[in-house]
Amino acid sequence: MRGEDIATVMALERAAYTDGWPATAFERELTTNGMARYIVLEEGAAGIVGFGGLWLMVDEAHVVTVAVLPEERRRGLGRALVHGLVELAIEHGMVSATLEVRASNVAARGLYREYGFYEVGERRRYYSDNGEDAIIMTTEELTGAAYRRRLLRLEAELRRRFPGIVIGRASGE
Ligand SMILES: CC(C)(COP(=O)(O)OP(=O)(O)OC[C@H]1O[C@@H](n2cnc3c(N)ncnc32)[C@H](O)[C@@H]1OP(=O)(O)O)[C@@H](O)C(=O)NCCC(=O)NCCS
Repeated sequence: MRGEDIATVMALERAAYTDGWPATAFERELTTNGMARYIVLEEGAAGIVGFGGLWLMVDEAHVVTVAVLPEERRRGLGRALVHGLVELAIEHGMVSATLEVRASNVAARGLYREYGFYEVGERRRYYSDNGEDAIIMTTEELTGAAYRRRLLRLEAELRRRFPGIVIGRASGE
């Protein structure tokens, strides 16, 4: 994600979250938060169809956000984003990844489960807008043999769905 992507990302953010961030929060994340890494997912002429972000916290990657355009959901784009985030975490030497997700967010919980996140606890009334609980999810060791196998299987699936997909930086960057 670059500064010039923020306007498009904001439209997505508003469509994805009831308690979304303002543009200034993304600007801060990109310019002053050294722990933060944000990615966008571009698809042909449609341009940015999703984005995600994580914080590199010592040896643990914290997944901050993953969002896909409402009309493009359930096609595997969420998988592509989480895949990109996990690869990024591994690239930065993170041992595991964690996140919080709304208890009611069945779609996201399913997506994260696919990527090997499992539930380790909850934070009661974590979300101030509706008092909803957060579920805390984490992965096993990202570079362990079992997780590597999972990631290879998921990558093969992703490449079957999206032949020619570029995971990581687009060519020329
Ligand atoms: C969560 C989100 C990113 C998923 O994006 P997506 O592109 O629809 O996800 P995918 O198509 O890659 O789905 C991957 C898997 O997640 C699960 N899943 C996704 N949507 C689901 C739904 N509506 N119900 C149940 N499971 C769902 C399934 O296991 C799915 O695999 P399958 O399609 O092979 O069954 C999207 O719903 C979104 O942007 N939501 C709003 C923002 C948000 O809540 N983000 C998470 C905050 S922690």
